[in-house]
Amino acid sequence: MSKSAGPVTVLDHPLIQHKLTIMRNKETSIAGFRRLLREIAHLMCYEVTRDLELESIPIETPMAAMDSPAIKGKKLVFASILRAGNGLLDGMLDLVPAARVAHIGLYRDHETLEPVEYYFKAPADLENRLIIVVDPMLATGNSATAAIEKLKERGANNIRFLCLLAAPEGIKNFTESQPDVPIFTAAIDSHLNEKGYIVPGLGDAGDRMYGTK
Ligand code: URA
Repeated sequence: MSKSAGPVTVLDHPLIQHKLTIMRNKETSIAGFRRLLREIAHLMCYEVTRDLELESIPIETPMAAMDSPAIKGKKLVFASILRAGNGLLDGMLDLVPAARVAHIGLYRDHETLEPVEYYFKAPADLENRLIIVVDPMLATGNSATAAIEKLKERGANNIRFLCLLAAPEGIKNFTESQPDVPIFTAAIDSHLNEKGYIVPGLGDAGDRMYGTK
């Protein structure tokens, strides 16, 4: 179940929404937050891959030969924006264990809110693979944009962006610079505060996953 609004699809499945509510609650434990993020990633992965093309491949069951559907084309790539992206990545890999993985290390300079890259490692042949970039929070959109520009420099030409929460400011900024990249999110929140946090949001996703402050 989903609602599409231009380049943004809000995944409004009741299970996703229910789990997100528990994640937003500041009383939720670190262990609970992490488990829910993984569970939501399963549900979101299911939705974001629902239009993948299939092809028939010949197999033999214990009973007979048959042609059976399998996902067509090169293996998917999941690109995690560190560090909070890894929470979504783990759940995505539960569903697509053969996916290739890119890690993109970016931190936000707290003064300028601009992303600073400290790590980039991706499969060599990104062209003509579906690449799903994951980061729980689309706040200013600057990190997502920087990550996607880097992937495009390396040949990526079929990218989707998956997050839990998006701010309207981030969606605007992101879609202006990456109009060819559809966004999938569980919710669009009210606004960003002066420190670049999503309101009402869920706080700092990395801190809530890893118990840091
Ligand atoms: N990153 C987070 O973890 N939380 C926000 O609200 C914004 C960016």
